[in-house]
Amino acid sequence: MKIEEYLASLPRSIISGEEVQLPNKAFKELFQFAKLDKEDTLYHLGCGDGKGLAIAIEEFGVRKCVGIDNDQKKISSARKLFEEKKITNVTLRCEDITTSDISDATVVLFWFTDQQVVEKMTERFSTLKEGCRVITIWGPLPGFLPDKVDFPYILNVVPFKKAKDLKEQLLAIFGKDCVDFVTAWEYAERYTKAIGSPEAGNDRFLTIIQSLIIWINAKNLGVACGDEIPQPIKTYISILRTFFNIDVEYLLSHS
Ligand SMILES: C[S@@+](CC[C@H](N)C(=O)[O-])C[C@H]1O[C@@H](n2cnc3c(N)ncnc32)[C@H](O)[C@@H]1O
Repeated sequence: MKIEEYLASLPRSIISGEEVQLPNKAFKELFQFAKLDKEDTLYHLGCGDGKGLAIAIEEFGVRKCVGIDNDQKKISSARKLFEEKKITNVTLRCEDITTSDISDATVVLFWFTDQQVVEKMTERFSTLKEGCRVITIWGPLPGFLPDKVDFPYILNVVPFKKAKDLKEQLLAIFGKDCVDFVTAWEYAERYTKAIGSPEAGNDRFLTIIQSLIIWINAKNLGVACGDEIPQPIKTYISILRTFFNIDVEYLLSHS
């Protein structure tokens, strides 16, 4: 089956990422990466149970935090967490991030993959105060060059810098002239390790899929190293097809 069919066979909540919550380790790395400090006004969009905001306040001394989530249950459990911790300098709002007021943010944590949401929010982020840092994970804001990358963490600072094309954006993320198998694998692994829970048993499977997708995208954009398909890529394509009945080869454009 095509990889899209495989993805469509997974539970909807997995694909939409609704139930996904970053591990504490990732929050700490992200905040260090963005040099979060006490003067910042942090917005966590899709804040879930509020654990990220608690880390920002307790470990980074941030004085003003706002968490927005459109799920009332999650906002209630975040409220409970802050009551237990006796933290008062956080505002929790049960709202849709695409319409919610975020105008006083100096740092925004934004981990969404829904294309419509990402496009809408990119427009809104461009109007934020100069110097505002927008943290994304895995991909930069569409159309813009990142200001800082420690993959999978990516920072765009207002005013955003336009990328010439997707190719320039991709190379800025990988910090290389071309993408080979080792780079694709290393970056895929960094992503699975950053967002996965430490006890996840299926890391290797995810890394295989992610590295194939990275390499195939690079190839289609003309930034893969060399003309040949590397042997490990051929091997993993064949493992996925033989043992998991998942086809990714058709994604390669044969132009
Ligand atoms: C932090 S996001 C992470 C995963 C993300 N959905 C993705 O695409 O990768 C998950 C959180 O965002 C919340 N959420 C999803 N859509 C939202 C929206 N339009 N406005 C506010 N919160 C939203 C969910 O309730 C959940 O707590």
